[in-house]
Amino acid sequence: MTTKRILSGMQPTNNLHLGNYLGALKNWVKIQEEDAECLYCVVDLHAVTVPQDPAKLKQSTREIAAAYIAAGIDPKRSTIFVQSSVPEHSQLMWALSTMTQVGKLNRMTQFKDKAGKNAEKAGLGLYAYPVLMAADILIYKATHVPVGDDQRQHLELARDIAATFNHRFEDDFFPLPESLILGEGTRVMSLRDGTSKMSKSDASDLSRINFTDDADTIAKKIRKAKTDPDPLPNDEKDFGDRAEARNLISIYAALNDQSVADVLEEYGGQEFSKFKPALADLAVSKLDPINSRMNELLSDVGELDRILEAGGAKARSIASPIMNDVYAQMGFWGHAK
Ligand code: TYM
Repeated sequence: MTTKRILSGMQPTNNLHLGNYLGALKNWVKIQEEDAECLYCVVDLHAVTVPQDPAKLKQSTREIAAAYIAAGIDPKRSTIFVQSSVPEHSQLMWALSTMTQVGKLNRMTQFKDKAGKNAEKAGLGLYAYPVLMAADILIYKATHVPVGDDQRQHLELARDIAATFNHRFEDDFFPLPESLILGEGTRVMSLRDGTSKMSKSDASDLSRINFTDDADTIAKKIRKAKTDPDPLPNDEKDFGDRAEARNLISIYAALNDQSVADVLEEYGGQEFSKFKPALADLAVSKLDPINSRMNELLSDVGELDRILEAGGAKARSIASPIMNDVYAQMGFWGHAK
């Protein structure tokens, strides 16, 4: 019997990049092989916490779904759906927001980063974002959540909110979801600055490798990636403060399903001029097929939409009884336990 239920999602904002792939998507594909029920959503409700162009949102949503499938998520084995097509996410969010202390939201580093200096002008949605994320997970009673390292704090809050609900209403109603932060690519850094995270919002496109980059662009970005003049170390312990060197080696390891130590065994002592072309070849060999498959899928949005509709229906069939139980626990009229 399947005991694990996996839930994760990505925002349909701009392109996916190598960090999204190595920190999350690649692991989702692997988890599919396990004895687990997998639900992967495109979190469009999260995307609109910062203004989105309505004309583009639909297309970006399809692009993310296409990327999931192109990377290896099989719609026959996993449920792929769009967050806004399951209204229970928003319903549960409201219920959970009544049990979330603002003091905890004030400590969320992602809000502080995104709101910047002008937090007073940030939207309520951006502030409440982690409560919606908790609802995304708990509305399915998911047990495990595969994400990159930057989502760790949000996952802790989701556990905290689940525990509050359980304490107030029914012990063990929600499983406390565990984060799965796996592999060597849990925190892929910018190619221009090894101390800041690779991100969609970095002004420099050279800082990241996008899913939509062609082979030449990938090779160029790796060639131009910031490094230092020294050869690669032989041992992990000797990276010291060489953040860029560590990042490139970790990317290689994650792409090739190796450990950093294995990669250093091969490339330790070598110059970047040797290592960078090898990394570029590896990145192209892994990303190019995904890119082509994505384009194929996007050329037939009818089929993609059918997959998302079926996924939405499946997700709703799980979420709806759980929502009913939550309302019943809370004493709402019209909902029986
Ligand atoms: P998002 O859309 O920013 O990122 C999607 C996934 O990619 C991971 N990631 C990275 N991993 C390694 N290195 C990086 N540089 C890097 N950048 C991004 C993220 O950790 C994430 O796993 N709040 C989430 C979306 C979300 C969600 C959820 C996730 C909404 N509801 C419920 C899990 C469960 C986010 O903004 O991800």
